[in-house]
Amino acid sequence: MTDSEPNENDLTALVHDAKQVVTVEDDGSLGIYEDAAIAVVDGDVARIGATGPVTREFPPENATHVVDASGKAVIPGFVDPHTHALFAGDRSDEFEAKLQGKTYGEILSDGGGILRTVRAVRKASDEELLSNLLSHLDTMLAHGTTTVEVKSGYGLDTETELRMLDVIARADDHHAVDVVPTFMGAHAIPEGRDADDYVDEVVEKQIPAVVEQGVAEFCDVFCEEGVFTVPQSRRVLKTGEEQGLTPKVHAEELAHIGGSQLAANLGATSADHLLYATDDDIAALTDAGVVPVLLPGTAFGLGAEFADARAFLDAGAPVAIATDFNPNCHSQSMGFASSLACVEMGMTPAEALVAGTKHAAMALDIGDGTGTLQPGTPADIAVIDAPSYVHVPYNFGVNTVETVLKNGEVVHH
Ligand code: NIG
Ligand code: FE
Repeated sequence: MTDSEPNENDLTALVHDAKQVVTVEDDGSLGIYEDAAIAVVDGDVARIGATGPVTREFPPENATHVVDASGKAVIPGFVDPHTHALFAGDRSDEFEAKLQGKTYGEILSDGGGILRTVRAVRKASDEELLSNLLSHLDTMLAHGTTTVEVKSGYGLDTETELRMLDVIARADDHHAVDVVPTFMGAHAIPEGRDADDYVDEVVEKQIPAVVEQGVAEFCDVFCEEGVFTVPQSRRVLKTGEEQGLTPKVHAEELAHIGGSQLAANLGATSADHLLYATDDDIAALTDAGVVPVLLPGTAFGLGAEFADARAFLDAGAPVAIATDFNPNCHSQSMGFASSLACVEMGMTPAEALVAGTKHAAMALDIGDGTGTLQPGTPADIAVIDAPSYVHVPYNFGVNTVETVLKNGEVVHH
């Protein structure tokens, strides 16, 4: 071949002979190609189609990475748009306490829950925090996640919040998984503090310091009964927005207090949890273009009612799902979230896949087509050791992901 012939040097990858390649189309439906291949040029999807013609145009001998996907399904890598994956300590005993009937709110007001993780994070070194997060990112990647959002919020003081965001940025640099950072100083009221007084600190000290370091993209608030009220949450999110942080809201997780209307009113990128959202909330969020991020693992772990995914879908909302991985919801697996989305929230496997890819990317304002595998978009790919994407939720409790490519490079096998 001469240099002028196409794709000699820049063919990053060829995934061939897949039983099925699944893409997400602009209208949110799935595109399914049987006996298909994907050619990746310069990290982006260049061509998807029948293996014969694609491999003639993009010969495997020119590719840096060649993946034989015979008998397997190939899907977009998962985007996990809501996690608290950076923490220290162990709260498995709270899992046991909840099984004995203690509620999440009782554990928190006894100084457990988030506050206990805060104590552990403040004590942990940066290296320990980084190593914890990198190990969770390894697990996520092995389960097919190629982009993840990670929140701060276990520092609850300026120094530790900045430290968490710095560790999140370092993890992004060190790991194949793309990490999107969210500042969540308003995650709980620190022990012994008055809520308004703490909100003053978040607004006056933490947000300016976070913005100055340029270490976060979003600002999130736990707008919840017994945590931050709607006016307090509004104040935090407005201040963040004025200084360049895009709002997100933890809304109606444990009770209905109006976080959805706040998210709609602010035009937040997403409103998350929504277990107690009403029909009016669903209409307001959908009209405002706020992505509803549903977290079925949290409802499962709390033994709570699941969010009404069908009502959001019927309203035409771009429903996203996430793991909410945190010490209270200890699962890094988008496959498990998909199983719960189907069995407990009545979503179809196709809706669950779109919710964990394209819509999840929308919940993070990622506008380059991540999560779709459309031509010209990042080749973030999960190869499933099963003949169809349906096996991801169908084979519950088991990791069906065999190989993962990030920007066309094999990063897990
Ligand atoms: O999304 N709701 C607030 N934050 C987490 C829980 C964090 C924790 O318990 O450590 C959530 O469920
Ligand atoms: Fe959360």
